[in-house]
Amino acid sequence: MNLGITIIKSRRSVRQYKDTPVSGDVISDALECARNAPTAKNGQNWLFGVITEKNLLKSIADLTDHGKFIADAPICFAVFGERDWTYYLEDCCAATEQLMLGLWAHGVGSCWVAGDKKDYAGEVRDLLQVPPEYTLVSLIPAGYPEDMKLVPKKPLEDISFTNRWGPAKE
Ligand SMILES: Cc1cc2nc3c(=O)[nH]c(=O)nc-3n(C[C@H](O)[C@H](O)[C@H](O)COP(=O)(O)O)c2cc1C
Repeated sequence: MNLGITIIKSRRSVRQYKDTPVSGDVISDALECARNAPTAKNGQNWLFGVITEKNLLKSIADLTDHGKFIADAPICFAVFGERDWTYYLEDCCAATEQLMLGLWAHGVGSCWVAGDKKDYAGEVRDLLQVPPEYTLVSLIPAGYPEDMKLVPKKPLEDISFTNRWGPAKE
């Protein structure tokens, strides 16, 4: 058994959290994972927000459509990219996933809440007083899991191919 593979494969969205705070060491580790994500041309044109104030968490939750549970999370990360950077979306998505895996490696669950393409992206940015050259890509509420629902995953043979796409040959 390989621990890294087990961590990656077992990650699932967690939307209900215990009140237990997430320690500074865990937060730093998760951010270190995020900032080590790959970026096009090594641009690293991003900004990571860490939100722990209850009133801010509630305000963010209220702005979202499918992220109301942010209000009850002990912490929420916000990933922003420079809007004029061609690859901001790819870069910030890579960082988001690494952030989530870094948290999960410490037993902290999280859930990706959409930011990019959402009407509330600008309002979240304004609320957090982030400069307008940045745009919100994702919100990542996190905490020790209170509950965790497992959703089915498609079998690998249905979603992969080797060399050329087509029905498997005998
Ligand atoms: C781009 C993106 C946006 C998402 N937005 C939301 C969201 O707004 N609210 C939410 O509860 N989950 C959101 N999710 C989480 C997905 O619902 C979840 O990843 C999916 O159901 C698969 O479940 P799993 O994460 O447990 O594997 C989002 C995931 C991605 C990748």
